[in-house]
Amino acid sequence: MPKRPYIVGNWKMHGTRAMLSEARTIDRAAQRHMKVEVAIAPPYTLIHPVHREAEQIAVGAQDCHHEESGAHTGDISAAMVADAGGKFVILGHSERRQNHSETDAQIKLKAEAALNAGLRIILCCGESDSTREAGRAVSHVKKQLKASLPDFADTAEEISEKLTVAYEPIWAIGTGKTATLEDIAEMHAEIRALLVSLYGEEQGAEVRILYGGSVKPENASEILATAEVGGALVGGASLTADSFMGIALAAG
Ligand code: G3H
Repeated sequence: MPKRPYIVGNWKMHGTRAMLSEARTIDRAAQRHMKVEVAIAPPYTLIHPVHREAEQIAVGAQDCHHEESGAHTGDISAAMVADAGGKFVILGHSERRQNHSETDAQIKLKAEAALNAGLRIILCCGESDSTREAGRAVSHVKKQLKASLPDFADTAEEISEKLTVAYEPIWAIGTGKTATLEDIAEMHAEIRALLVSLYGEEQGAEVRILYGGSVKPENASEILATAEVGGALVGGASLTADSFMGIALAAG
């Protein structure tokens, strides 16, 4: 059965407790709009507070460490995310890959740790503008994704429940530029083919593939109607309930 569109807000390093009112408003709106699955990844400090407020939406983290505990100042484990009420974790975001030099191998370890802690994962991939201009966008994204995906220990039926992929061209993040619908469709089809080759026709076809990069209420309908786009990973436009739910309403 096709899954509901998945609209995920990545608050990045935005938000203090004053933002809880936005989370409450988003949660109430999501309760009235059940055709879409809505989730928020606030900063770590707000995971538990948002979890306490939310009845409908899921809350998650923007990263986690691959070990359960240890001498890793400033890090947080997947078990801690789960303990705070988190249900999922975003991994391999380009800002983590760039600003913290995260490698595909590290992201794969984090993904496996997250699954072991009972979290769902949103695994990000995407190319830079120079890679796209060099005509290597598709091969780069497929290689990156293949090397970052976890080895699933579970039965095949659970893979599409646990895994979501997010395609985010780096040059479209926070820039106001979006990929063309043709480019989005091409990349999502390539990612779908990879998932089917890895997990089989049934599971590979069910994994949702989100698009991210300057999604806003004004462009959400056409992006979300593009083939193989199963939702959106939203940064800037997720910071107010109005714009975020504008995107969710456009989804279904
Ligand atoms: O995780 C979200 C993405 O990086 C997209 O951010 O919507 O601000 O472009 P943006």
